[in-house]
Amino acid sequence: MKVLITGCVGFIGYNLTKLLLDQKIKVVGIDNFDTRTGKKLKQDRYKDLRNHKNIKFFKFYKIDISNRSQINSLFRRHKFKKIIHLAALAGVRNSFLIPEKYINTNIIGSFNIFESAKNYKVPHLIIASTSSVYGMKKTFPIKEYHNTDLPLSLYAATKKSMEVISHVYAHNFNLNVTVLRFFTVYGPFGRPDMALYKFAKCSYDNKPIPLFNKGRHTRDFTHISDIAFAIKTLVVSNKKLKKFDIYNLSNGKAIPLKRYIKEIEKNLKIKLKRKLLSLQRGDIHKTHGSNLKFKRYFSFKPKTNVDQGVKSFISWFKSYHKKNK
Ligand SMILES: NC(=O)c1ccc[n+]([C@@H]2O[C@H](COP(=O)([O-])OP(=O)(O)OC[C@H]3O[C@@H](n4cnc5c(N)ncnc54)[C@H](O)[C@@H]3O)[C@@H](O)[C@H]2O)c1
Repeated sequence: MKVLITGCVGFIGYNLTKLLLDQKIKVVGIDNFDTRTGKKLKQDRYKDLRNHKNIKFFKFYKIDISNRSQINSLFRRHKFKKIIHLAALAGVRNSFLIPEKYINTNIIGSFNIFESAKNYKVPHLIIASTSSVYGMKKTFPIKEYHNTDLPLSLYAATKKSMEVISHVYAHNFNLNVTVLRFFTVYGPFGRPDMALYKFAKCSYDNKPIPLFNKGRHTRDFTHISDIAFAIKTLVVSNKKLKKFDIYNLSNGKAIPLKRYIKEIEKNLKIKLKRKLLSLQRGDIHKTHGSNLKFKRYFSFKPKTNVDQGVKSFISWFKSYHKKNK
């Protein structure tokens, strides 16, 4: 089986690529090395992939998904059984600063992938969506059928648009689509624009950690090892696929940010200074997703709790920054 992973040097893409290579699954990875979610980190993840013991199963192309002709020539060259479409501009705040780039990558870029999947008869397309599509909810845990018509950020709106467009492809063409809505993914080699990395970095730079909404957020923190394992489970599964289906991928627990910070402090052995800020534009107070649907269908249960997860990140962070001093 040959699979395409878009965004393969991103946080989730890199971890998934490694896991599939461990299983000797042929992976073609593409990425444009966008610097907004880390430059050096992406180079280091790429180096790490190149050193994988099963490197002969991996091929990489530096491609921008918004470039239709590059995507077309990739599909002309390779016949894919599955596509795991992770490439995107991620994050809420940037989506207000560079809205056009979000539209170009997350909507036009995704459309290019869908068109090629249709034209080159790829049977299964897995796409990365986000808990942000649920907007501000009052009832928890959030289930897949809950309303997603009122996104609060342009990021969420582009992801929702991508979901809706993918449904048209599933309905009209010979293509199964599985939408995965990820909830706050964290862990080793994580994104530098996300809380855990930012907080650890602040402690190294002796700066206060910025706490939006005065730190009164609650998140369903989901460890990268569980996310990568869940996607792999879906990729290798022989279960009958629906034409179109949506799954939350969450840890299934609502953790107050303050409790998460305590865990970071415990592992760093430091009391972090805090800078209390107001709620960011487009931000959501609480996320907590039900993961029962995925659990029941694929018999998969997340294994990593926040204590273990934060510990794994801080230990990676310390050794990564020691190495790169
Ligand atoms: N990390 C999370 O908590 C989280 C939560 C919900 C959803 N998601 C979604 O999961 C996916 C992966 O997220 P991530 O955390 O690994 O982010 P990431 O930024 O680390 O990875 C995305 C990758 O896509 C690449 N990319 C961006 N624009 C591109 C383009 N035009 N052409 C080719 N490649 C491009 C980037 O260079 C990057 O390597 C994204 O679709 C994101 O929206 C992530």
